[in-house]
Amino acid sequence: MVSKSEIYEECFREISGKLKDLDLHDRMELICEALKEKVPYYFWVGFYFPKGEFLELGPSRGPPACARIAATGVCGRAAKEKRTIIVPDVRVFPGHIVCDPRSKSEIALPVFDSQGNVIAVLDVDSEELGSFDETDREWLEKILHVAFSQYEKE
Ligand code: SME
Repeated sequence: MVSKSEIYEECFREISGKLKDLDLHDRMELICEALKEKVPYYFWVGFYFPKGEFLELGPSRGPPACARIAATGVCGRAAKEKRTIIVPDVRVFPGHIVCDPRSKSEIALPVFDSQGNVIAVLDVDSEELGSFDETDREWLEKILHVAFSQYEKE
């Protein structure tokens, strides 16, 4: 059986190889596309942009999701605390925002620019409980780093 790390390694290689000359939006599209296609337990993957008290949906793959969410859920927490949040069971996370009732577990990661500002949040949902662990965190942080750590706001 192919391990999580092997799947992510392939995603990382594919994404790193295609980043050159892509703008912020297209980098996000590339990441969603590669991850959704290759990681079997991904139900939904997408980016949200913090806008004051809310977060607005950016590029994503999977079933339709909330276009605008309050900053009080999992994504808002990742942006506010500037750290990755792993939720093994969304039913017991206080403030979790339901966009699709099929989502059972979730991981949300802040996206940092070159100055260390949070410019977006990467959110992934799974239909299974407990899908995400340290391996997901490690590889997703690596992917976000290679894609956005050079990014400077105009
Ligand atoms: N569950 C998220 C909302 C976004 S969806 O899962 C696509 C949250 O609590 O912030």
